[in-house]
Amino acid sequence: MNTVATFKAAKGRQKLTMLTCYDYSMAKIMDECGMNALLVGDSLGMVMLGYASTIPVTLDEMVHHCAAVARGAKNSLIVCDLPFMAFQTGIHDTLVNAGRIIKDGGAQAVKLEGGSEFTPEIEALVRASIPVMGHIGLTPQSVNALGSYRVQGKDPNAAQKLIDDARALEKAGAFAIVLECVPASLGARITEAVSIPVIGIGAGPECDGQVLVWQDMTGIAGEHSPKFVRRFAEAGQMLRQAFTDYAAAVQAGQFPADAECYHIEPEILARLY
Ligand code: KIV
Repeated sequence: MNTVATFKAAKGRQKLTMLTCYDYSMAKIMDECGMNALLVGDSLGMVMLGYASTIPVTLDEMVHHCAAVARGAKNSLIVCDLPFMAFQTGIHDTLVNAGRIIKDGGAQAVKLEGGSEFTPEIEALVRASIPVMGHIGLTPQSVNALGSYRVQGKDPNAAQKLIDDARALEKAGAFAIVLECVPASLGARITEAVSIPVIGIGAGPECDGQVLVWQDMTGIAGEHSPKFVRRFAEAGQMLRQAFTDYAAAVQAGQFPADAECYHIEPEILARLY
């Protein structure tokens, strides 16, 4: 059973595994594969709901998907994103919204995007016994302010700010940090700078663990994925083939076959009028 304590204890000892997860069936599979954590990321806005970004995702949508994941997972730690505007409007809103994710969504921890500017919210959550995973580097909820999705921390001020933010998140009580899309050597420096686990996504191999969006790493999400994504399967191609073969079999009258049908005694049929 993975807990926040498992995460903290893993630092420097064992690499942590996390994948995004948004539904019951996938949660069961990932849990059975021994994933340390399932992240109900607000990326569900894009990969599950077809939005252009994570900005429109609502708290209700997060809770709905999180509850499905919670029903499927037994051992993985469930972490759920606070969506855009669920924590930026102050400590009271943050507590109420995170409370819903824990109580109605069944998550064991929340994740929120941002650095030292959100330490009051993180401290309040930790005081309320709600574990917090931070998220710095590329923070997709800030896409309108950033202008685009690009590598972060490339100039000295930005790189130093990320190290300072990681330390501030640790001091505020976060149990782990997601670090997205920074140069690998900076990922190593940030990982070294804190005593809580840093889970990288496009942040190099020295992080304490890795996270990917499952549709990206299985080839479901389409042709173009970011440089940091490794395709561990071509499930998109496999599914397209299965759907095409199914349609062809139905159209040709080859599905269902006799073995795929229920049967009744012929005498019973003979008595029908
Ligand atoms: O929403 C999400 O899926 C995330 C990961 C990319 C870390 O925040």
